[in-house]
Amino acid sequence: MLRTAARRLPRLVTALCLLALVLVGCSPEHYPQTTLLPRGDFARIADDLLDTTVKWALLVFVLVEGVLIYAIFRFRGKPGDPEPHQTHGNTTVEIVWTVIPALILAAIAVPTVRAIFQTSATPGKDALTIEVVGHQWWWEFRYPEYNLTTANEIHVPVGRTVSLRMGSADVIHSFWVPQFAGKRDVFANRETRMWFKAEVEGEYPAQCGEFCGIQHARMAYRIKAQKSDEFRAWVAHMQTLGPKPPPGAPPGPKPQPGAHPGPKPKPAASGNAAPGVRTATAGATLQQHGQPGGPQGQHYASGEQLFMTKGCVGCHSLQAVNAPKGMVGPNLANVGARSYIAAGTLKNTDENLARWIRNPQGIKKGVLMPNLGVTEAEAQALVAYLRAHQ
Ligand code: CUA
Repeated sequence: MLRTAARRLPRLVTALCLLALVLVGCSPEHYPQTTLLPRGDFARIADDLLDTTVKWALLVFVLVEGVLIYAIFRFRGKPGDPEPHQTHGNTTVEIVWTVIPALILAAIAVPTVRAIFQTSATPGKDALTIEVVGHQWWWEFRYPEYNLTTANEIHVPVGRTVSLRMGSADVIHSFWVPQFAGKRDVFANRETRMWFKAEVEGEYPAQCGEFCGIQHARMAYRIKAQKSDEFRAWVAHMQTLGPKPPPGAPPGPKPQPGAHPGPKPKPAASGNAAPGVRTATAGATLQQHGQPGGPQGQHYASGEQLFMTKGCVGCHSLQAVNAPKGMVGPNLANVGARSYIAAGTLKNTDENLARWIRNPQGIKKGVLMPNLGVTEAEAQALVAYLRAHQ
């Protein structure tokens, strides 16, 4: 009976190990912040390396534990046995158990070193450069090729390598988009680089990967991988979100490409806005909705006023084009269109945006945005104004 048990045990151990692995890795799609479901070349290199290492580790584990358990049962002592033969060293066995691990380590070292070189390579000239700046506790993204700035939501084209040049405005953070690439720390006064190529479109969560203060956990961001034409459309749209023309400038019938007519107020939720309103020039749209008596327009106008007088404008830029550098708060040029606010903390609904504006310290204690004593009505106006910035 013991013999049967001894024969079954290694199989049982193997089965349990495999089961544990399967349970851990069975449905990574339910956990979007997983590294086990790579969606880009950089992440795949790391994932392949992990697979290789785990396979070797599993082989070693099963062999060693199998032999151990076999020996325990096969050679166990029984009452009355004579003293077993004593051994003191065995040169052959010692050479074997030195050489085998050395070979296994070599088999792991070769792909590891190769992966280090591959992931540290400098991307080609056709890569899209994105500058990344970590802040306590949000992310700034700049596209020098397009003269665009945004925050907490990074857009990348599928199939084109992005070259990240990263730094920090304060403490050490770590840029981490699990399904596209590994972590890389960002520092003040020192540039770190990374690259990856998104291969599957979609919206992916990402997270600061280095403890950076009490709101480190709320330093999340989103990455939107888009087909190249969608990405180009996004860029073209963002390029309309530049400085407003000076007050009193004659409203042109059509904005020049690169001229920046300012944001469009969102049509009222009751939604009797005619189709095409959003494609009308912003000036015209603003006028339509800014009619005296139009509630949305009034909200927008008083929100704009409050944005200036409450001090928001001191920390936040509303320009995607030619955005000033060194702002304390995230760029809000397209805040109305983002999925989340407060760096991944809240879904970007009107209710949450109002809550956030009224009480940032209650939602994200220690954040640099102070509670400004905004009333409920003022928050509604600011929400209408910000929502229009899409
Ligand atoms: Cu930034 Cu953790």
